[in-house]
Amino acid sequence: MGSLFYFYKMKKAIINFLIKLFTSVGKFAKKRLNALYELKYFIEFEDRKDDIYIVTYPKSGTTWMQMIIYLLIYKKEPDFDHIYNVSPWLSNEAFKRSSAKRVNELPSPRFFKSHDRYDKFVPGFKGKIIYVYRNVFDLTVSYFYHKKHYNDSKLELQQLIDESFNPSKEYNWFNYHEKWLINKNNHPIFYVSYENLKLDLEGAIKQLAQFLEIPLSDELLELVKKYASFEYMKANEQKFGEQPEEKHQMVYNQFIRKGEVGSGKEELTDEQRNFLTEKYKEIIEPLIK
Ligand code: PPS
Repeated sequence: MGSLFYFYKMKKAIINFLIKLFTSVGKFAKKRLNALYELKYFIEFEDRKDDIYIVTYPKSGTTWMQMIIYLLIYKKEPDFDHIYNVSPWLSNEAFKRSSAKRVNELPSPRFFKSHDRYDKFVPGFKGKIIYVYRNVFDLTVSYFYHKKHYNDSKLELQQLIDESFNPSKEYNWFNYHEKWLINKNNHPIFYVSYENLKLDLEGAIKQLAQFLEIPLSDELLELVKKYASFEYMKANEQKFGEQPEEKHQMVYNQFIRKGEVGSGKEELTDEQRNFLTEKYKEIIEPLIK
């Protein structure tokens, strides 16, 4: 009996080992396969001189900016079912293994959502960039709720800080933001902060329209302010964010969540605040003129 038990235990250990091995091989293969599909997508994708890229670290105000630019270009009450239909998120389209045909057929000027790192925008790329950034405390908390609602209900705030806001990690907010601020290739970038959009939306829209060379009447300005308001976007939440079939844990009333400046600070511990402040002073502050 004893040796039979030992045999089964051995078998279990081997099976567990094989499960682990195949899972890692599977993950590795899936990553490579995704990279190949992304390459395929961007080979098919036809870039244009008048393309606009809204680039942000997640939760910095991407969707808000997509809406502002939609209104500046289309000059009418939104009639799209989902913002991705008029303003695609290219990497996500590639990830979903879509063809680039739909995007290639969109009218100019096209405006895309992007969370891509600076190095993906090679020297000589065609188009203009709008880079939106946000206070690191509010950003961390907004990202935390997003991940908790959409990806992992057990996520802890500290875990997210360790994974995404620690400069020692490969993909973290500090090195992402740093490279976009340095802009070593001198790409045409319009920088705007989430806080500035909140404080002076009208002023930001005027500067943005100038950068995009879009004539701005008082009537158009009012239209943009009305439909890009938090109230309108919250009331029409189904037009934004992830689509139902993509995720398992959909929380539709959380994508357009609070839309505030400053409240994130209250949800962080002193230690978390100090950590983020220290790293911010060290890495980001010297780059701000
Ligand atoms: S994503 O997932 O990266 O595309 O998210 P993103 O759109 O960048 O950021 C979402 C946060 O922006 C807030 N939001 C707004 N704030 C003010 N006014 C308007 N109109 C608006 N639209 C979206 C949204 O509520 C998220 O912030 P939090 O702090 O979570 O509320």
